[in-house]
Amino acid sequence: MKARQIKTNVYWVGAIDWDRRLFDALIPLPDGTSYNAYLVRGSQKVALIDTVDPSMAKTFMTYLEDIPVIDYVIANHAEQDHSGSIPQVLAKYPDAKVVATPKCQDMLAALLLISEDRFITVSDGETLSLGDKTLEFIHAPWVHWPETMLTYLREDKILFPCDFLGSHLATTDLYVRDGGQIYEAAKRYYAEIMMPFQTNIQKNLEKIKDYAIDIIAPSHGPCTIGLNLSCKPIIAGHSTNHKTLWSCLIFLCMAVLKKWWNILWEP
Ligand SMILES: [Fe+2]
Ligand SMILES: [Fe+2]
Repeated sequence: MKARQIKTNVYWVGAIDWDRRLFDALIPLPDGTSYNAYLVRGSQKVALIDTVDPSMAKTFMTYLEDIPVIDYVIANHAEQDHSGSIPQVLAKYPDAKVVATPKCQDMLAALLLISEDRFITVSDGETLSLGDKTLEFIHAPWVHWPETMLTYLREDKILFPCDFLGSHLATTDLYVRDGGQIYEAAKRYYAEIMMPFQTNIQKNLEKIKDYAIDIIAPSHGPCTIGLNLSCKPIIAGHSTNHKTLWSCLIFLCMAVLKKWWNILWEP
């Protein structure tokens, strides 16, 4: 399959899971989801940012058929919906290194049995040059696991925040088209996954506020352009105030009730 270009030499290479209806055995997915991975081709090195859920690995690997070399696999997050296909990538590219936070390295080594020599660990604010493109790593613990980081592509002003600022929405649109629809998806996503970590979420929103960001390319749902334009519903969906806290609680209660209803009444 052909990768979808976001900017010059930056491509979406993920998988859309139209049929998934449950996440983590509890969270309903009425609109499916996507596992977004991105390929960044620099003048000297090539980096893959995140991978996809193992259930979609076959689809994902078809995007890499015509890619002869991957130097770095950036692992923003160790949860399997983004890291689960790293072993297939490492098998195809024996010289590729996994770039992760030290904690993420520990988790990936334990979960996926990746050997220590395949890792490069990065500290908060560290950069990695791909030649004419530079990746900057921003540690963002507890979004919603303790090992998480965000990746910022300086020259193209693209933020790859993995789960952060995502939404569970399966769509062929690369970018947000319907602000209302994405607000609802982002709010539900925030309520069900991020809300217990709201203090950390607000700290991380604060941490990125001075970055020049043209595109937010998360690992679930469509990308957004500009922090203050189509991204607004996403940011609003990830913000906590008195009013949004109540709507998050209502979303959460509905999710739990729906799950129990299914357990009790499904044959
Ligand atoms: Fe996650
Ligand atoms: Fe995720």
